[in-house]
Amino acid sequence: MGVVVVGSANMDVVARVPRIPGPGETLLASSFTRGGGGKGANQAVAAARAGGAATAFVGALGQDADGEALRHSLTGAGVDTGAVRTSGEPTGTALISVADDGENAIVVVGGANADLTDLDSRQREAIEGADVLLAQLEIDPQVVLAAARARRPGAVFVLNAAPSQELADDLWAEVDVLVVNEHEAADQAAWLGAPDRGLEGAVELLAARVGSLVVTLGGKGALVIADGARTEVPAVPVTPVDTTGAGDTFVGVLGARLALGDDLVEAARWGSVAAALAVQRPGAQSGVPPAEEVRAAR
Ligand code: RIB
Repeated sequence: MGVVVVGSANMDVVARVPRIPGPGETLLASSFTRGGGGKGANQAVAAARAGGAATAFVGALGQDADGEALRHSLTGAGVDTGAVRTSGEPTGTALISVADDGENAIVVVGGANADLTDLDSRQREAIEGADVLLAQLEIDPQVVLAAARARRPGAVFVLNAAPSQELADDLWAEVDVLVVNEHEAADQAAWLGAPDRGLEGAVELLAARVGSLVVTLGGKGALVIADGARTEVPAVPVTPVDTTGAGDTFVGVLGARLALGDDLVEAARWGSVAAALAVQRPGAQSGVPPAEEVRAAR
């Protein structure tokens, strides 16, 4: 198996609003949609759609219509769902406001995702077969740690530290590639005892802590630190419609390209182009572009 993604799956419940509401504010939405989401499931869909790397998802879904719909979205993209656990809890839900400028605000109700407190034998077996293991922090970090430890020697563990959460030392010790955005980089630097250092300070600190680092910079591209070298990956200029899941598209495609043998800089270039396409269409999983479109846009 090329890529195994361990993480969350949510039904995204999305209201389109003129701007993100402030505290205590009520806004009228111009539309309401539901669609496949969850950082883990989004990354699995992106890795599978990148083409060429077999992809499996390890997570938990409820025994409900949302769970069925999410399983269908994953398998439809070509993701192996044989290691998805069925939970007695309802499928995870994300309440999302998407503003007219494409920005979003998200509240996640964990549901079945929170039920994933350990790995069963089927899930361990899937992880042991991975060339690249992707995980995020929308599930129990102990499960992320167990997954990282279950990977075979030589398999690359990519941690997307989103949403922000302080990492335990034993998890830091497993990370081969850390992927964060600017805010997450600042959060991790603060937890490492160096707040208010600015982006450069945070990058320096995090790069000293992990073998390889990718900082996504939205419309400014991405910064890759690998093998002691620093590379700026330019952004593809686009007008965003919906940024939900764009970071997940970046990480999923990056993981697939690493599994196909690209180095980290080249993998980040693919991820960056795919994310630029993703922000031009609505929805998280529905926004993930197929490999042909990404290839054509490079
Ligand atoms: O990263 C975007 C995702 O975050 C959404 O799909 C939502 O489900 C939350 O997990």
